[in-house]
Amino acid sequence: MIAKAHTSILFVCLGNICRSPLAEGVFRAVAASRGTESAYLVDSAGTGGWHHGSAPDPRSIAIAASHGIDISAQQARKVVPEDFHRFDLILGMDSSNVEDLKALAPPDAKGQILLFLDFAEGVTSEVPDPYYGGADGFASVYRMVRQASEKLADRLERGSAPMSGQTSSTT
Ligand code: 4NP
Repeated sequence: MIAKAHTSILFVCLGNICRSPLAEGVFRAVAASRGTESAYLVDSAGTGGWHHGSAPDPRSIAIAASHGIDISAQQARKVVPEDFHRFDLILGMDSSNVEDLKALAPPDAKGQILLFLDFAEGVTSEVPDPYYGGADGFASVYRMVRQASEKLADRLERGSAPMSGQTSSTT
C-alpha cells in the first residue's frame, strides 16, 4: 500500500453556507494551531446547490471572526460525485445530511460517510441547522464544531490512517 500524505476531509451540510463552512474554517484553525495543516486536505460542500458560489452566511462569518477565524473567502458548492472518491472522510452535520450523502454516493465510493459528532466524539448527536434562528444558534454551532474539531484532530493524530466510526487501527 502506498502511504498517503494526508487525510482528506469534506464537511457537509444542507446549504454549505452556515455549518459546514464553519467546520471547514474551524478545523483548519485547529490544525494550524497544532502545526499539522499539511496532514489534511479540507473542504466543505452542501447536499443542496441553492447557494452555489455564495460566501458563507454573514452570521457564520461573524461568529468565526469573533474567534479570529476568517471564512469570508469560502464559496458554497454542491457535493459532486468525485467527492466520494477524493475524500477519505465525508462528515455530515446532521442525520439527514448523512442520509442524503448515502443516496448521492456512487456504488464504488471510497470515502466514508459519517455523522461528524459521532465520528469525532462518539456521541450520536447532530449539529443543528441555525439558518432560521438567531445569532445564539450560530454561537452554539460554533462551540459544537470547535469541540468536535479538537476531538477529530486528536483522533486522527492517534492513528496514521483514516479510521471508521466502528473500527480503529491501533497499529
Ligand atoms: P446550512 O444551513 O445547511 O448549515 O448551510 C442552511 C442554509 C440554507 C438553507 C438551509 C440550511 N436554505 O434552505 O437555503
